Amino acid sequence: MNDTFRIGVLGSGQGSNFGALADAIAAGKIPAEIAVVLSDVESAGILARARARNISAQFIPPGNFRTKLDDDAERAFVAALQNARVDLIALAGFMRVLKGNILRAFEGRIVNIHPSLLPSFPGLAAWKQALDYGVKITGCTVHFVDAGVDSGPIIGQLMVPVRDDDTADGLHQRIHAAEHDLYPRCVAALARKEISVAGRRVIWKGAMI
Ligand code: GRF
Repeated sequence: MNDTFRIGVLGSGQGSNFGALADAIAAGKIPAEIAVVLSDVESAGILARARARNISAQFIPPGNFRTKLDDDAERAFVAALQNARVDLIALAGFMRVLKGNILRAFEGRIVNIHPSLLPSFPGLAAWKQALDYGVKITGCTVHFVDAGVDSGPIIGQLMVPVRDDDTADGLHQRIHAAEHDLYPRCVAALARKEISVAGRRVIWKGAMI
C-alpha cells in the first residue's frame, strides 16, 4: 500500500522504545510501518532488534563531534530517511542534538521521548536529576523536536510518582515502563492525523491520553 504512514526511528541505545512502537504496530494499535531504523552507534541494540524483526537497519557514522552529527553525517541521515520516504521521525534514545539540515528537511515531523515531565529536567539522566532535586512526581514526555534541547511543543505526558526509598535505577525502570505506554499512543495519534499544533499547544482530536 502506497499510503501507509512510514516511520523512521533513530536511536543510540538498546531500543526498548523502538520495540514498544514495533509491538504496537504489530498489534494493530498504530496504523503505520517502521520503514527504517538508523543509529550513530554501530553496536547499538536498537539495530539488532530491528534486524531481528526484518526491519531495515543502518549504522551511519556520526563524524567527529560528541553531541551532534557533523554536516556529512547529517546529510547521510537525511538521505537515508528520504530514501525510506518517512512521514515521521521518532527519536528513541538518540543521543545527539539535531541541527539545521534534518530539522529543515522534516520540519514539524520529528518527535522525541524524554524521561521527565518537561520542561523540568531536560538533558541527560533526567530521572537522576529529578531524584536529586527531590520532586515527588516525575514521568515522561513525548514532544516535537525543535532546535533546542528537549524544548519543542509537548504532545503527551505520563506521570510516575517518586518513592521515598527510590534509587536512580528503580525510578528509571518505572519511567521506562511509562514510556512504553505513552510513546505508542502519541505516535498512533500522529499516524491517524489526530494531532494539530497551535503555537506551543498540541491539540488532540479524538481519543485523549
Ligand atoms: C529513554 O529513557 C528515552 O526517554 C531517552 O532515552 C531512553 C531510550 O531508551 N530519550 P531505549 O533505548 O528506548 O530503551
